[in-house]
Amino acid sequence: MSGESKIEDKIRGKLASRKQTNSLRSLRTESNLIDFCSNNYLGFAETLPVKAFKDQGATGSRLISGNSKQFERIENKIATFHNAPAGLIFNSGYDANLGLFSCIADKGDTIIYDQHIHASIRDGIRLSNARSFSFEHNNIDTLEKKLQQADGHILVAIESVYSMDGDKAPLEKIVTICEKYKANIILDEAHATGVTGENGEGLAQSLNLESKIFARIHTFGKAMGCHGAIVLGSEDLRQYLINFARSFIYTTALSEHSLNTIESAYDKLKESGDLIKQLNQNISLFQSLLSKKLQSKLISSSSPIQCILIPENETVKKVEAGLQKKGLNIRAIMHPTVEKGKERIRICIHSFNSEKEIKMCVSSLEKLII
Ligand SMILES: Cc1ncc(COP(=O)(O)O)c(C=O)c1O
Repeated sequence: MSGESKIEDKIRGKLASRKQTNSLRSLRTESNLIDFCSNNYLGFAETLPVKAFKDQGATGSRLISGNSKQFERIENKIATFHNAPAGLIFNSGYDANLGLFSCIADKGDTIIYDQHIHASIRDGIRLSNARSFSFEHNNIDTLEKKLQQADGHILVAIESVYSMDGDKAPLEKIVTICEKYKANIILDEAHATGVTGENGEGLAQSLNLESKIFARIHTFGKAMGCHGAIVLGSEDLRQYLINFARSFIYTTALSEHSLNTIESAYDKLKESGDLIKQLNQNISLFQSLLSKKLQSKLISSSSPIQCILIPENETVKKVEAGLQKKGLNIRAIMHPTVEKGKERIRICIHSFNSEKEIKMCVSSLEKLII
């Protein structure tokens, strides 16, 4: 048997085992269901004005031919919006985290991360030469224990709003404990961008703590409705990333079209206070309509991400199928994406979901979840 066919056998075997445990992932294309699953919290993905321009590919990496005045102007504009000294745009949030975490700490340094941290940060840490420990989700005592064991430069990785639970980091407490141990915070603001704070500036600014954070990552693929991400921090951090972040150095830069869209999204955000208010009203409406039974299964969250725990892949998949049948695009989050026993239905609330849609969503959940 040739080497090629053996590898085909191996991948088929691994897929079969995923199927057996009801955890096979597959791509879907349905389009006319009511959206309760996208990260398009404010509807920007459909409503951003498209500027007339001649589209142009970047033609190379930022360090070769892909840089432009437009790039640097937009980086400055976004950094100013977020009250940061400087910022560097990456092609995605995944690339930003991979690049930042893989190069920021060296052998002898320590990265401490929340147990629920996003896969992109975990992958960045795996590429780094630093020691790493996780701490119990949002638990300051276990964070302090890990800080006591840390050597070298200490980095602490947290998210503003956790993507799978929707809950927020206790940022004030984390800042206090990190100051005590001279640890540097890296805050992933992916699900807070455009949503948290009066104008969607993010969690750090909503608490006036931005100057206490070493680096913030804002992604543009969620509430901003487009694509890409920015790492905010000092001018030195920006220069460091240009020199050492491999996911920045060795990739073609974003196109002019992508940059224009990112700029439009930030311009729109400045006038989106009412949309954010509407989003928060919709979240409150959703929660207030839930029965006691469903409230007891709900993970506590004030963000647009609302999760109802339904253990077992098979059971949660059945609920998902029932919701889709009713015309609701709501997804099950299964093991191994979340730990066994914590499988869930994850509902994303948007500013554009109508009262009727939210009522229908809740009544369908009540009927399908026993
Ligand atoms: C917390 C968090 N960080 C980073 C990312 C990656 O961002 P992007 O989709 O722009 O690659 C995501 C998206 O899934 C996320 O939820």
